[in-house]
Amino acid sequence: MAEIAIRSVKKTYGKVQVVHGVDLAVRAGEFVVILGPSGCGKSTLLRMIAGLEAISAGEIAIGGRVVNRLEPRERGCAMVFQNYALYPHMTVADNIGYALKVAGLGKAERRAKVEAVAASLGLEDFLDRKPGQLSGGQRQRVAMGRAMIREPKVFLYDEPLSNLDARLRVAMRVEIRKLHQRLGTTTLFVTHDQVEAMTLADRIVVMNAGKVEQVGTPKEVYGRPESTFVAGFIGTPGLNLLPGTLDPGAGVVHLEGGQRLAYDRQRWAGAGAGRVMAGFRAEAARMARPGQGLDAVFEFSEELGAARLVHGTTGGAMVVVSLSDGRDLSPGDRFGVDVPAGEVQLFDAGTGRRLSGERAPAAVPGAPVLEAV
Ligand SMILES: Nc1ncnc2c1ncn2[C@@H]1O[C@H](COP(=O)(O)OP(=O)(O)OP(=O)(O)O)[C@@H](O)[C@H]1O
Ligand SMILES: [Mg+2]
Repeated sequence: MAEIAIRSVKKTYGKVQVVHGVDLAVRAGEFVVILGPSGCGKSTLLRMIAGLEAISAGEIAIGGRVVNRLEPRERGCAMVFQNYALYPHMTVADNIGYALKVAGLGKAERRAKVEAVAASLGLEDFLDRKPGQLSGGQRQRVAMGRAMIREPKVFLYDEPLSNLDARLRVAMRVEIRKLHQRLGTTTLFVTHDQVEAMTLADRIVVMNAGKVEQVGTPKEVYGRPESTFVAGFIGTPGLNLLPGTLDPGAGVVHLEGGQRLAYDRQRWAGAGAGRVMAGFRAEAARMARPGQGLDAVFEFSEELGAARLVHGTTGGAMVVVSLSDGRDLSPGDRFGVDVPAGEVQLFDAGTGRRLSGERAPAAVPGAPVLEAV
C-alpha cells in the first residue's frame, strides 16, 4: 500500500503535448478510476506512473519517494493491460510464478506462493493448463495473478476488461473489487466505460483532452458535475443540457426557442445574468401532458426493462426523460417535460464550467448512484 502523488505532470511527443499538467493525490489503499474518452491521455498517464514512458515535466512520487528517474521494476507497481500477453508455452503456474523465478526464488517457495495466489483467484484447478486451454476470463485472472504475486505497492490496470464479453466483464469487476477489499493495495484503473468507473471507484478522475476535468466520488461526479463535459459523460443517459439565458431577477432560464425553465434562485443566488447551459437528469424530470412544463416532441424510446427512456426535442435541443408507465407515443407526438426547479443545474455556456456562487443543496440531486454489483 502506498500513496501516489502526481504533481504538474506533462507529456509531450515531439511538439505535441498530450498530457497538460495533471495534479492528483491518490491515498494509500484507495481505488481510483481514470475515466475519459479515447485519446484523452489515460494510458499515457498510467504508463508514466509505471515508468514505461518518460515524464516530460512535473513529478511523480510513490510512497513518498519521487520515482521520475527510477526504472519500472524499482517502482513497486504491477500493471495489467488490456492485451494480457501470457506465455503460451508455459503452464498457468509458470506464468504466474515467472517473476519469482526471475528473482531467483527456489522451486518449493515459488510453488507455495503460486498456489496461494491461484487460490485467491479461483485458479487452483487450472495450474497445469496452458493459456490456450482457458477462457478469456480465466486468462485475465492469470494475468492478474502474475501481477499479484509480486506483492506490489500499487496496481495499475489499463482497460483490463475491454476484451471480455459483457457478462464476464461484470464478473471480473466483482473479482477486482473483492481483490482490492482483501489486499487493500492502492489501485489505479483506467477505463472509458463510465459504468465500470461508477461501480469500481472510491474516486473517479474524469479526463478530457489531456486535462483533469473533475476528481470526485461516483456520487459527486454524478450529482454535481463540474463541467458540461463531465455532465454529458457520466450517467446513462448523460445530463440533459439546454442552451439559454439566465434571468436571475425572474428565476428562470430563457431557453433558445422561447420557453422558460424555472431554477432554484436561492441555491444559485451567486449566479449572474448571462448565457448558460441548463442541465437536469432524465430521471429527475417527469413526463407530463402536452402544455405542462417544457413543450417537447417525441422521437423514439429505448426500452430498459424497468423503465423506458423517451427521446425527444424541445425548442430544437435534444431531451431525454425516463418513464416508468406504459404510455405509448408515436413519432411527432407532443408531450410535456416537467422539471422541478431544484433539479436544474447551471453551467457557463462559454467555458462549460459549472456556475459559481451555488449554495450546497439539502441533498445531492438526481437518482441514486449505481450500486456496486
Ligand atoms: N508514442 C506516441 N507518439 C505520439 N503520440 C502518441 C504516442 N502515444 C500516444 N500518443 C497520443 O497521445 C494521446 C493520448 O494517448 P493515450 O494512449 O494516453 O490515450 P487513451 O486515453 O489511453 O486512449 P484509449 O482510450 O483509446 O486507450 C493520443 O492522442 C495519442 O495519439
Ligand atoms: Mg489507452
